[in-house]
Amino acid sequence: MAAANSEGNGQKPRLETFQLFSSSASAFGIFDDAAQQVPHIPPPPCVEVLASEVPSSIKHNVDSVNLDGVTLLKGRVNTQQVFGLSNSNLVPWKYEGGLKLWEGSLDLIKALRSDIRNGLISFSGKRVLEVGSGHGLPGIFALLEGAAAVHFQDFNAEVLRFLTIPNLNANLSRDTQLSSFNSTICDKAEVCFFAGDWSGIDKLLPHVSTDAKNNQGDGYDFILMAETVYSINSLQNLYDLIKKCLQHPDGVVYMAAKKYYFGVGGGTGDFCLW
Ligand SMILES: C[S@@+](CC[C@H](N)C(=O)[O-])C[C@H]1O[C@@H](n2cnc3c(N)ncnc32)[C@H](O)[C@@H]1O
Repeated sequence: MAAANSEGNGQKPRLETFQLFSSSASAFGIFDDAAQQVPHIPPPPCVEVLASEVPSSIKHNVDSVNLDGVTLLKGRVNTQQVFGLSNSNLVPWKYEGGLKLWEGSLDLIKALRSDIRNGLISFSGKRVLEVGSGHGLPGIFALLEGAAAVHFQDFNAEVLRFLTIPNLNANLSRDTQLSSFNSTICDKAEVCFFAGDWSGIDKLLPHVSTDAKNNQGDGYDFILMAETVYSINSLQNLYDLIKKCLQHPDGVVYMAAKKYYFGVGGGTGDFCLW
């Protein structure tokens, strides 16, 4: 687990390693060699996904996960039905693993909860971006903790439609379900969903600082991400995205990931040196 404070001076951020829980160096287990190869084709276009786009064709079987006293609901969606792939496949530019719930996102929520309890952070009134959200549980947790805006990003629009949005609705009370607007106000919060590659998604995100050098005060107060640094090929784009999106000078990044992902070569070790 690591947190980065943006310094807003054009230099790389200062990174500190938290010792909240040890990151495992065990193999990720699912990645095959294909995950290392970036195809020589442009990624799919970046799009905003509307809450109304949730299809009814695929079942979202809900169960619950308990995290040190916080209970969140999450769905299970069949990877074969959505992408024609087995659960363990990851195909660059096609599917980046968002339908599976990775352990890092649960660790991330525990760490956030601990920091809230210890008075270190509060989501109240804050703008939050969950990068590589998949199930979106950390972003949902931030929303339930009073964030003013939570924006979810995943490589795949299908993941947002089939899983993230239904998960969010499962965790909201009946009278605050997401409606069909592109920016949805629920309990006074703005919730949006964006699909696409990290190299271009900043063009869609509402709170990217247009003039990071002059500290315009825009940007996200919190960027949350779990298990996003597995591929060396994506680290530069991910780093650039964070730099563009983080509020200067107080924005904070919470990242949960493994030190090293066997088979693909990324990890916190590499990302924190970036
Ligand atoms: C291993 S999954 C983790 C999902 C979720 N955070 C969790 O922990 O359960 C990696 C996530 O990063 C996103 N991702 C990976 N590479 C990406 C890229 N190049 N551009 C945009 N998103 C990417 C995927 O869509 C996916 O949601």
